[in-house]
Amino acid sequence: MQTKATEFDQISKNIFYPIYPVIAQQILAERKGISEGTCLDVGSGPGYVGLSIARQSKMQVCLYDMDQNALEIAKKNINEALLEDRVFVKYGNVEEIPYPNESFDLVTSRGSLFFWQDKVKAINEIFRVLKMGGTAYLGGGFGNQKLKDMVDQKMLAIDDQWLVKAAMRKGCADDYENLLKKTIVKQFTVKEDDSGLWIVFHKTSEPTKEQH
Ligand SMILES: C[S@@+](CC[C@H](N)C(=O)[O-])C[C@H]1O[C@@H](n2cnc3c(N)ncnc32)[C@H](O)[C@@H]1O
Repeated sequence: MQTKATEFDQISKNIFYPIYPVIAQQILAERKGISEGTCLDVGSGPGYVGLSIARQSKMQVCLYDMDQNALEIAKKNINEALLEDRVFVKYGNVEEIPYPNESFDLVTSRGSLFFWQDKVKAINEIFRVLKMGGTAYLGGGFGNQKLKDMVDQKMLAIDDQWLVKAAMRKGCADDYENLLKKTIVKQFTVKEDDSGLWIVFHKTSEPTKEQH
């Protein structure tokens, strides 16, 4: 049976594939040359963001998703990439991450935030599992304008509603600013440029008691 996860994997493999290494590079640039540590890729789907991060760094990467079918595909992709020693899958919802406080140096998430039911709870969870000095890079995008144009053109050929759906999902910088103000994250950046729309924050201090 063709599941949603299989369909997304096919699109990622055949159309999106050049965007992932570019996005991984942009994410790792936020870590300013630190190429070791642990990374949680939330809403990983078939895992191409996390796998690209693993290829471009020495990080241990957890591909985390609440769709078991997506994780089965992710496992195959990990094996094909020969990255079983550094990349693994874990099932769960972003709103309740099954890891202790301060477990990850980097939390990434591309193309998933739009689907989260309780985004405030989810972002607070991400902040909780980030190590001190850790970075979160959450949102959506296609790497750069040229890649976005290529994806739009190919997606429009198979779905004439692609641009409408993509615009509806994307939201805007103001929505993200307002969302973040409701969370325990006090310092963050919302960047909207050719790379997409992303929330970036670094964990530099614990939230105060009132913020818990
Ligand atoms: C459009 S796919 C993006 C996959 C991948 N990040 C990429 O960019 O290729 C969105 C993924 O987010 C996952 N997802 C949605 N809501 C989630 C949640 N609350 N917790 C964990 N994963 C979630 C879905 O199961 C799906 O695999």
